[in-house]
Amino acid sequence: MSRKFFVGGNWKCNGTTEEVKKIVSTLNEAEVPSHDVVEVVVSPPFVFLTLVKSLLRSDFHVAAQNCWVRKGGAFTGEVSAEMLVNLGIPWVIIGHSERRALLNESNEFVGDKVAYALSQGLKVIACIGETLEQRESGSTMSVVAAQTKAIADKITNWDNVVLAYEPVWAIGTGKVATPAQAQEVHCELRKWLSENVGADVAASTRIIYGGSVNGANCQELAGQPDVDGFLVGGASLKPEFVDIIKSAT
Ligand code: G3H
Repeated sequence: MSRKFFVGGNWKCNGTTEEVKKIVSTLNEAEVPSHDVVEVVVSPPFVFLTLVKSLLRSDFHVAAQNCWVRKGGAFTGEVSAEMLVNLGIPWVIIGHSERRALLNESNEFVGDKVAYALSQGLKVIACIGETLEQRESGSTMSVVAAQTKAIADKITNWDNVVLAYEPVWAIGTGKVATPAQAQEVHCELRKWLSENVGADVAASTRIIYGGSVNGANCQELAGQPDVDGFLVGGASLKPEFVDIIKSAT
C-alpha cells in the first residue's frame, strides 16, 4: 500500500508576526513536488494559526501544537479541539516529547487526547520516542510500543493518524538518528501495529521521523523504506525546509 510522504514543520514556541509572514512567504514561493506526492503541514504557535492559515498556499495545511483532552470549558489557558475545528484547522500535534517531559503528559493522557481530537474530526500527528537513557538501556522498543499502545487502546480508526517517531536525544541536539537507527525503529513499529492493531493499519499508517532533520541529512533518511516523512523542528523555520519537502521525491 502506498503511503504519501508527509512533511510537518513544528515551529514550537517561536516567531513574531513579521517572522511568521517571512516563513510563509518563503513557502508560498517554493517550487515543491505536487500534493499528490507530498503532504505538507506547518504548525505555528496557537496565536499565529489564523494568520498562517489565511496567508499560506492552499496545497499546504496547518496544525496546532496541542489541544485539550476533552470538550472545552473551565480550563484556563487551554485550547479545545472544537475551537480548532471551528477555525478550520485540520491537524494537531499531540504527545510531543517536550510536553510529555515538561508538562508531565503521560502515555494515557496522550492516548485520551488523540482519541478526543479524532472524535472531533481533527487529524493527529501523534509523537512517541525514547530518551537517551532508555535507548542505552536497550528499552527503545518497549518504550515506543507502550506509547503506541496507549493510543491504540483508545482509538479504532487510524486513517487520520500520522505516527511521529522522535527520539528525545535527537530533538534539537543536532544529533540525528542514523538512517539505519530510524529504519529499525520504524520497521519495528510497523510490525507492532501489524501484530496489535491490524495488517491494513500497519501498511497504511505513515510513520515519520523527527529529531535534527535538516536539508543535508533528509535525503538519506527519506530513502529508508519505512520512513514516510518528517516532523521538523528548527529547520522548519529556515528556507532549508523547502529542501526537506523536496526529499519526498
Ligand atoms: O517536532 C519536532 C521535533 O521536536 C524535532 O525538532 O528538528 O529541532 O530537532 P528538531
